[in-house]
Amino acid sequence: MTVMLRGYQDALDPAVSALDRGELVAFPTETVYGLGADGLNPDAVHRIFLVKGRPQDNPLILHVASLEEAWKLCREVPEAARVLAERFWPGPLTMVLPAAHHIPSVVTAGLDTVGIRVPSHPIALKLLRSFAGPIAAPSANRSGRPSPTTALDVLEDLEGQIPYIIDGGSCDVGVESTILSIPDQGSLQLLRPGRIAVQEMEDALQAAGLPATIQRPRSKYDLPELDADEAPQAPGMKYRHYAPRAQVLLLPEAPSEQIEAILDVLSHLKAHRRLGVYVSDRVASRLPKNPALEILTFTCENAGEAAAHGLFHSFRTFDRLNCDQILVAPIAGDGIATAYMNRLLKASSQPRSSGNDAKV
Ligand code: TXA
Ligand code: MG
Repeated sequence: MTVMLRGYQDALDPAVSALDRGELVAFPTETVYGLGADGLNPDAVHRIFLVKGRPQDNPLILHVASLEEAWKLCREVPEAARVLAERFWPGPLTMVLPAAHHIPSVVTAGLDTVGIRVPSHPIALKLLRSFAGPIAAPSANRSGRPSPTTALDVLEDLEGQIPYIIDGGSCDVGVESTILSIPDQGSLQLLRPGRIAVQEMEDALQAAGLPATIQRPRSKYDLPELDADEAPQAPGMKYRHYAPRAQVLLLPEAPSEQIEAILDVLSHLKAHRRLGVYVSDRVASRLPKNPALEILTFTCENAGEAAAHGLFHSFRTFDRLNCDQILVAPIAGDGIATAYMNRLLKASSQPRSSGNDAKV
């Protein structure tokens, strides 16, 4: 049975005891919910892969409560990592750093680097402080499903398989952390776009007088493709990610074209089929009422933040509503908008090479 824990400090005691026993606990972070295990207990970490149905060559992030604890997990700490940690931790940034020798290889998938993050969510920090050790945690979804951004999303995927879910409400950011690779030598590389933009990180490095160039993916919203037998450097490089059961398609950019496209798909919809659309509130207000149409919206103000916050949850909601197809509005811009487009294109069934051109 899976128990939902609510509230703060007292409620965390059973979760901490479960982690001590080598069991798994789902907990909220500011990005998405994590599926946590004692990061230094190989058997506990192994359980994460079993419960998620996750391929074992995909490494996990270690979460800690402070910078001091983070550095204990590293063989050495590049100066750039110290600067970025001071600026962005606690927060939605994961740094891939040279791994200390005591980190179990089940965490790193045998690599000599480890992903580390100090989350800023108060419940995550309280859990980490009470547990007093690194917690290994991927997103708390079944492998291949959209990352969970509410406790109920976690329950939907993992009910009966883990003893506790700590309910911290809806995650603020809604997409996973930015991942930056910082090798001891060589150039810094963005492995996954997130809430922390490349430009912000470059600015922080420059202000500290360090070399400030971060290698970006070849195409703006995507990550380089790898050969199937190469170890993945970041999620989505090799495995299908973030996908709801329904087919996801990208709408055109202009609001009037979005409406036209939605009406067109609606008019060709076969009997008993349902269409989900995820658009701005402004576009939604111009759509007709139709029993085959399910509409979820984000506000036009701060559209990037708002759209990212609700994206994965809208995928899951459309699945629950038995939608066969989902049409989603693109968002232009840098930072969180890039992260949103990256997740959206990975979830969509469109050929990635055609990127933004592949529209409804
Ligand atoms: O926001 C987040 O990062 C969330 C919350 C729970 O912290 N976690 C998360 O974990 O998204 P996950 O496992 O779903 O994605 C982390 C990805 C892994 O899939 C892996 O590809 C990459 O980080 N990663 C971890 N360690 C790495 C390493 N040593 N080298 C390269 N990539 C690594
Ligand atoms: Mg994940």
